[in-house]
Amino acid sequence: MFDEFGFPRDADSGRAEPILDTFVYCSRAAEGVNDAQVERIIELSQRRNVARDITGVLVFGSGIFFQWIEGPPAQVEKLIASLHGDPRHFDIVTLDRSVEKRARLYPNWEMERVGADDIRAVLQEALGTAEDENNIAALKRILEHLDSGPLDTLHPSATKREGADR
Ligand SMILES: Cc1cc2nc3c(=O)[nH]c(=O)nc-3n(C[C@H](O)[C@H](O)[C@H](O)COP(=O)(O)O)c2cc1C
Repeated sequence: MFDEFGFPRDADSGRAEPILDTFVYCSRAAEGVNDAQVERIIELSQRRNVARDITGVLVFGSGIFFQWIEGPPAQVEKLIASLHGDPRHFDIVTLDRSVEKRARLYPNWEMERVGADDIRAVLQEALGTAEDENNIAALKRILEHLDSGPLDTLHPSATKREGADR
């Protein structure tokens, strides 16, 4: 009710922050998922996310997806269910999930293509903090794939998607 200084906690609720559900994961693109299909995923996601008040960032590089999603809990819940049933990717590893009152980290929907080194850094950091055995195993599989797999989907010049709604 009151903070340690004796002020009511909601004193500044003029700029009330929303309850945000955050879901962060990485996954491997299924075989045959090419650039055109990734483009389709991005276009559809952008349209649907705007309609559902979902924002975040989708990173794709070397056949690996990394996505940060934030939005109203009911909408994020539905999207997570859809993502788990989507055959275009597999080995989905939840890196973070939380529901809290806070400002958005990504007020817009963004898409970025990155190189293998950036993806590797993200995954290695996640592996360093992962506790769940299944997550650790999946992260290791993804890293192995990254180190051994063909890098023909790699786009060395990281390009931010222009024209996104921001
Ligand atoms: C890597 C990846 C990221 C995706 N991101 C989103 C997203 O941000 N928003 C979205 O609506 N769909 C996204 N999709 C598509 C969903 O998995 C799903 O196909 C779409 O939401 C339609 O779901 P529904 O048929 O259950 O309604 C993504 C798919 C993949 C493979």
